[in-house]
Amino acid sequence: MLEKIQETAAFIRERMHCKPETAIILGTGLGSLVNEIEIVDAIPYGEIINFPVSTVEGHKGRLIFGSLGGKDVMAMQGRFHYYEGYDMKEVTFPIRVMRELGIKTLFVSNASGGMNPDFRIGDLMIIRDHINLFPEHPLHGKNLPYGSRFPDMHEAYDHTLIAEAKKIAAEKGIRVVEGVYVGVQGPTFETPSEYRCYHILGGDAVGMSTVPEVIVARHCGIRVFGLSVITDLGIEGRPVEVSHEEVQQAADAAQPLMTTIMRELVSRTA
Ligand code: HPA
Repeated sequence: MLEKIQETAAFIRERMHCKPETAIILGTGLGSLVNEIEIVDAIPYGEIINFPVSTVEGHKGRLIFGSLGGKDVMAMQGRFHYYEGYDMKEVTFPIRVMRELGIKTLFVSNASGGMNPDFRIGDLMIIRDHINLFPEHPLHGKNLPYGSRFPDMHEAYDHTLIAEAKKIAAEKGIRVVEGVYVGVQGPTFETPSEYRCYHILGGDAVGMSTVPEVIVARHCGIRVFGLSVITDLGIEGRPVEVSHEEVQQAADAAQPLMTTIMRELVSRTA
């Protein structure tokens, strides 16, 4: 495993012409941030040795290197979801490659279903913490020497970055909420009882990504900031149907605000 990660990092290092310390996973709601990156190199996942290949429609699957807000960045256009059939080692493989390439801070975005009754469709939720309900743990098995066998998770999402993001949102007049993201495998959206259950557990929003990548990033010492767009609501007593199209539409509508916050935060991050 370690050899594969290092082999991939060496392959990418040969092709990149900048030295980013910041990586961004362009999840749902953040696709257009790519238009603001001055791209220097773009490598399709299919060309990267040992890399899984993205299958979900709408994800182009490229690793991008360039400049955003005056900062060198590496961006994943397209991520690997557990529900697509990848195992956790594959889902989180790019994170360890990032670590080998010198990444210090990771920005992630996703779409999620809101369970907090104060939330509205289109809200941006700063992820304060998560609850991992995936059936397979990304650190299951032999511990790789990137970090501790028993990694601490008390500050999975960096408090300084959260404070800065709130400041940016206030300056720009963008409504943000803050909450706990529950990570589940999908691909079904939740039943009303499941939404209720996850809310009782302490969750404010639920989605099918992010948690595995964040756990692995923390294991290897990368600090994390996460932003989730609330694309639908699973609130007790207000059952509504959810479709992928509606999720996509709500995410597209929130995209400019999410892009503004992320771009600003990246440019202000040391
Ligand atoms: N549940 C799980 N994942 C999601 C949801 C949801 O309601 N909305 C967007 N991604």
